[in-house]
Amino acid sequence: MTSRADIAGTSRPLTGEAFADPWTGWPKRAFLRAGGLSRDAVRRRPVIGVCSSWSELNPCNMGLRELAESVRRGVTAAGGTAVVFPTISLHEQLVAPTTMLLRNLMAMDVEEMIRCSPIDGVVLLAGCDKTVPAQLMGAASAGKPAIMLTAGPRSWARFRGAPVVTDDGWTLVSELIEGRVSAEEWDQLEDVFCASCGVCNVMGTANTMAVLAETLGMALPGSAVVPAVQARRSDLAERTGARAVDLARAGLTPEAVLTREAFDNALRVLVAIGGSANAVIHLEAIARRLGLPLGLDHLQRISEQTPQVLGVRPSGTFSLEDLDEAGGVPAVLRVLAPLLHRDATLADGQTIAQVADSASGRPHPCLRSLEDPFEPDGALVVLRGSLAPRGAIFKRSAAPASLWTHRGPALVFDDYRTALERSLDPSLPATPDTVLVIRNAGPAGAPGMPEIDVIPIPVSLRQAGVRHLACVTDGRMSGTQHGAVALHVTPEAAAGGPIGLVQDGDEILLDARQGVLDLLVDEPELARRAAGYHPAPPAPRRGYEALYVQHVLQADQGCDLDFLTDPDLRPHITA
Ligand code: FES
Repeated sequence: MTSRADIAGTSRPLTGEAFADPWTGWPKRAFLRAGGLSRDAVRRRPVIGVCSSWSELNPCNMGLRELAESVRRGVTAAGGTAVVFPTISLHEQLVAPTTMLLRNLMAMDVEEMIRCSPIDGVVLLAGCDKTVPAQLMGAASAGKPAIMLTAGPRSWARFRGAPVVTDDGWTLVSELIEGRVSAEEWDQLEDVFCASCGVCNVMGTANTMAVLAETLGMALPGSAVVPAVQARRSDLAERTGARAVDLARAGLTPEAVLTREAFDNALRVLVAIGGSANAVIHLEAIARRLGLPLGLDHLQRISEQTPQVLGVRPSGTFSLEDLDEAGGVPAVLRVLAPLLHRDATLADGQTIAQVADSASGRPHPCLRSLEDPFEPDGALVVLRGSLAPRGAIFKRSAAPASLWTHRGPALVFDDYRTALERSLDPSLPATPDTVLVIRNAGPAGAPGMPEIDVIPIPVSLRQAGVRHLACVTDGRMSGTQHGAVALHVTPEAAAGGPIGLVQDGDEILLDARQGVLDLLVDEPELARRAAGYHPAPPAPRRGYEALYVQHVLQADQGCDLDFLTDPDLRPHITA
């Protein structure tokens, strides 16, 4: 009888053994031949799935189709067979009502496709914000060897003779509303704004997650911030494909890579680079897939011990290209090395210590030392208090220092859309001390926890030159945005959180120096309001949205679906 080793060309039992099984293997091999694979290719091992979030509905990820071919070359050269497959893809601006509603659905799609397909390992190709965490969550749960390659930042555009990057868009749209940009100029801006494929070209959520994937050991060192259109990315793709073959042969699953130490390192890098607050939710969700809850107190401890050493927009004035020139993530790891778990393994098999020690040490003003940082503390602060009993996040590095500590009267909006509409009303009662409260924007309440793209500063204040107001929300903020916003207030209004009790004129204290977010209303009055408050989150009657609202966890727990977080409950059926 033909042995498995004869068919597979290896005696190592690989995960996707179905190809090699004499009884069940032949139809798989035969049907794959219909896709153009050779007799040799369908018998070669290991088989590497290339899980691609390429889609014409996701321009940020449009470069992934070509990168998939480079990955295939790398897999083939290393002795494996590559099979590319699609999943859901989520674009921040093209998916409604919000990609966050669908992140978990994409994670389920990724997990099931990896688990149920006859593959020994997988290369994850992602880019736009939610596609990176969704793939990492799915791969963590699927339990097969996995490595990621991200899309890289898109090229810069030029407008009015100066470079523009993504976060300039929010400033310029305000100028359009105020009449300081003409309609004709706006058309010119739109012509050039997205100059190429690739993700938003600042340290927003997409690039933050790419940096963290690299730090976690899920993407090759030096890969995160290489521009999307550079030939270096094809080289990275080939090396990623070859490394996937190594990982499959070694049977090295994400569980072995995504350790508590790896997550500690990722949290430290997150606060040191001034990364997106959204990454706090995504890291928590990925970690919980492996039974490793991180918690906001842990984030706060790490942030207090970690200076902000990188000054890339929106947490500074430098560009991602500056960071690439400075040596990329390995250079950041070199600076942070004394604070990191140095034995944690990166995706090429080296330890953090090895990568950090061999990283570029050439000085660049975008990256400072621990002794002379941009800020002595990390970029993210955890706030707690009577308005956020389970916590909120404040991105200090994207907020004006004048609003790090602020006390003022609340102006309450029951949803973001209403806030945007009412901000155009010149009679809206608002002063520079006003604290905007935007509620019903949480995971269950919106539903899906949408982002605040533009802080709805009332038009009367904008015309008076006010550019920043303090803001409190149970929703999220775009990682490309600036603002003094207490985000992810937990519990959200729809879950009975005190943010649902705030009324216009209530005093709010936001103190990012002390980590406080208080509603300064006395207890009896709050008790009286609470007695009459019966939050009624939307109750979709069918489909994924109904499943989501019934099972979504709060922001401090990563907004995953509760039944997906326990690794002991993972199905044991794999292909
Ligand atoms: Fe895709 Fe910003 S819209 S990364």
